[in-house]
Amino acid sequence: MSENRIHLRPEEPQDYRAVEELTREAFWNRYVPGCTEHYLVHVLRDSEAFVKELDTVALVGDGLVGNIMYTRGRILGDDRSELPVLCFGPLSVLPAFQGRGVGGALIERTKEQAAVLGYNAILIYGDPAYYERFGFIPAETFGIGTADDCYADTLQALELRAGILSRHPGRFVEAPIFDIDQEAAMAFDKSFAPKAPQDGLPSQKRFQALLQMRRPR
Ligand SMILES: CC(C)(COP(=O)(O)OP(=O)(O)OC[C@H]1O[C@@H](n2cnc3c(N)ncnc32)[C@H](O)[C@@H]1OP(=O)(O)O)[C@@H](O)C(=O)NCCC(=O)NCCS
Repeated sequence: MSENRIHLRPEEPQDYRAVEELTREAFWNRYVPGCTEHYLVHVLRDSEAFVKELDTVALVGDGLVGNIMYTRGRILGDDRSELPVLCFGPLSVLPAFQGRGVGGALIERTKEQAAVLGYNAILIYGDPAYYERFGFIPAETFGIGTADDCYADTLQALELRAGILSRHPGRFVEAPIFDIDQEAAMAFDKSFAPKAPQDGLPSQKRFQALLQMRRPR
C-alpha cells in the first residue's frame, strides 16, 4: 500500500484528542483570529444532533490527517412543514495535507453513505468556490434561506433524494450546538499548546466578504 494513500474509517474514541488537535490546526486564524472549531468538535460528539454513523476520519500512513462530522438540522417550510436534513462541519484537513484530495474524499464517501442511510439532503455554510465541485448549489435555488430568513451566498444545498428540496422552500435551521459558548471555548483552548491569534489575513477578509453576501428572502 502506498504511503500516501488516503484511508477513511469511522472516528474512534482513541482518535478524539488527535482530531481536536487537527481541527485546531486546520481552522486556526483561517476565518477569524484563533478558532473555536476544536471546542465544537469536543462538545458535538455528545450532542443529540450528532450523526455518529457519518463521523469519519482520514489517515495517510498511520497519521490522522482529516475529519468530517455531521449533525441533524431542519428546514422549516413556508407551508409549516418540517424537513429533516443533514449539515456537515467541522470539516478539517491538516494544513500539510491540504490540496491532496483528503477533504474531497471525506465529502464524497460520507455523501454516499448519507444517501444510502436515507437522508434527504445536505445543507452547509461554506465557500461556494470549494463546494460546487461536489454538486452543492446555492440553497436559494430551492427557495431555502437562513434561519433569520435571508438568502446567503454561503448557504449551499445538495439533494440526496431527487426533487426533495424543491418541494420544501423555507428556512434552514441548524442544531443549537453551533451557538458556541465563547468562554468555554477559550478555556478549552488552554489545554492545547499556545498559539498566537492573528488578524487581517486574506482568508479572514474573504470570509468577511462572503458573510456580507446576504439579502432578505
Ligand atoms: C477546506 C478543506 C477541508 C479542503 O480540504 P483539502 O483536502 O485541502 O481539499 P481537496 O484536496 O479535496 O481539494 C483541494 C482543492 O480545493 C480548493 N479549495 C480548498 N479550500 C477552498 C476554498 N475555501 N475555496 C476555494 N477552493 C478551495 C483548493 O484550492 C484545491 O483546488 P484544486 O483542486 O483546483 O487545486 C481544507 O482546506 C481545510 O481543512 N481548511 C480549513 C478548515 C475549513 O475551511 N473547513 C471547511 C469549512 S467547515
